[in-house]
Amino acid sequence: MNSYKNVSVINHPLCEHNLSIIRDKNTTAEVFRSAVKRITYLLFYKASEELETEEIKITTPLEECNSKVLSNKKEIIIAPILRAGLIFSDIANDIMPFATVRHIGMYRDENTLTPIWYYNKIPIEFENPQDKIIFILDPMLATGNSATDAIKLFTGKKVPQKNIKFVSLISAPEGLNKVQQLFPDVKIITASIDNCLNEHGYIRPGLGDAGDRIFNTVEN
Ligand code: URA
Repeated sequence: MNSYKNVSVINHPLCEHNLSIIRDKNTTAEVFRSAVKRITYLLFYKASEELETEEIKITTPLEECNSKVLSNKKEIIIAPILRAGLIFSDIANDIMPFATVRHIGMYRDENTLTPIWYYNKIPIEFENPQDKIIFILDPMLATGNSATDAIKLFTGKKVPQKNIKFVSLISAPEGLNKVQQLFPDVKIITASIDNCLNEHGYIRPGLGDAGDRIFNTVEN
């Protein structure tokens, strides 16, 4: 349990084990990526638990039975925030191969800590926005500035907040508070709530720059 409404922290031994691997500054990019991928499955087990299903009848080699499949009345959209969000999107797409992937490109201005947009593959308007289920993917929920901008992209096109899940590896209280204040019905699924941000907007203890750790661009 945690004190935030609509925030799920995956308290699971496998999650904790893999978090220790990725937090360690001596972990190589190759090992880092494989540990993040293992955590991604655990995050998505939780993040996808409210997907609607419908009953069908199927015939096994033995007999006919009732079974369930995902409802095709909803369109599932996976929205990775570039570049670090890409580490989640392949696995999210493997688990939900029928989903649409809509990339969001933004980077953080290191002085103002505000997001700078450079790309998004979101249509100008959504048909039936109430039938879209959105998974926004960003490993680090730090200040909450990019998270809230990404969420606004969808709520601005009339997707209900309750249809939006924000999936992160590590979250800072500052980011959680900001998202919850502006979008109280958006669900956040994370592997850890860390202590705070430092003066550069990095999560403490965190894991450093997630994009650099994933793509092996850490400059020493
Ligand atoms: N982005 C990162 O990659 N790491 C942080 O700690 C904060 C934002």
